Amino acid sequence: MNKPRVYVTRAIPGSGLKILAKRCELTIHNKEELPTKEDIIKNIADKDGLLCMLTDRIDSDILSSGSKLKVISSFSVGVDHISVPEATQRGIYVTYTPGILTEATADLSFALLMATARRVAEADRYIRSGKWKISWSPSMLLGVGVYGKVLGVIGLGRIGTAVAERGLGLKMKVLYYSKNRSLEKEESMGLQYMPIEELVRISDFISIHVPLNKETYHLVNGQLLSLMKKNAIIINTSRGQIIDEEALVEVLKEGRIAGAGLDVFQVEPLEKDNELLKLNNVILTPHLGSATYETRRIMSEVSAQNLISVLEGVAPHNLYNPEVMKIRSLLTVKMI
Ligand code: DGY
Repeated sequence: MNKPRVYVTRAIPGSGLKILAKRCELTIHNKEELPTKEDIIKNIADKDGLLCMLTDRIDSDILSSGSKLKVISSFSVGVDHISVPEATQRGIYVTYTPGILTEATADLSFALLMATARRVAEADRYIRSGKWKISWSPSMLLGVGVYGKVLGVIGLGRIGTAVAERGLGLKMKVLYYSKNRSLEKEESMGLQYMPIEELVRISDFISIHVPLNKETYHLVNGQLLSLMKKNAIIINTSRGQIIDEEALVEVLKEGRIAGAGLDVFQVEPLEKDNELLKLNNVILTPHLGSATYETRRIMSEVSAQNLISVLEGVAPHNLYNPEVMKIRSLLTVKMI
């Protein structure tokens, strides 16, 4: 029997490619630069499966060119780069990697929170640029304390909850805003639910953990930012489009908030003339939420396994669009 054909849009770390190579005929975009839309269209024309990254925009043009496509496995937890409703209509299974990158992303959120609060990047630049002339000064590079402060978590999914846990470890009072209130977590973790405006008004640190969709695009807009305390800090490791970046630059420039720690941006990579680059009170990282050896290794295995499961008629562990099963039932052979 012929092996199923699969297109992989980047050479992923870990054993994912080996796992796939045993069961599929693989075409890999093994280049430093991203595949273009044309590359993807050309390559998926005869493929049964696609393993893609969050940098690949899987839109209508791409979906319509993959007439044999049964499964799209994304090497990510976010699936905002895929037109999921259209994939579903076409009977294409969409899988993702939830749960795996929770702790790594929560760690990075906290790393940014701490680093912004204590001006770590600025202090490093200070030394490297030869400004450190006096061994110790009472007023040198003062930052804000974290321990026992108020942390406002926007979005209490897996990552938001993991960030809340880290805050509780530092004896922070943890507030949250989420589409769905969790009385269970309120009780077991001692979190306090708050409407988003209230949370923004009270928090010393705000950390964003919602997925990007129509409702969350620019959820944190100029009006909301204007409610933040002057000494408050905002952290974003979710998606850049959740914050109105122009409005954020404005409040940062005018010193209306203390700082921001950002791992995600409206446009990635950040353009050379982006105003954020000129600001000292921001710490920037290049979309590194899941970037640990351990996490990427598991993402690799899981995204490969998700894809193979669908192609072999087994229910994948991480199906994003289960409603697809009503449209095209591929999983009738074996259910696990
Ligand atoms: C994801 O998987 O969606 C993350 O943004 C990657 O770090």
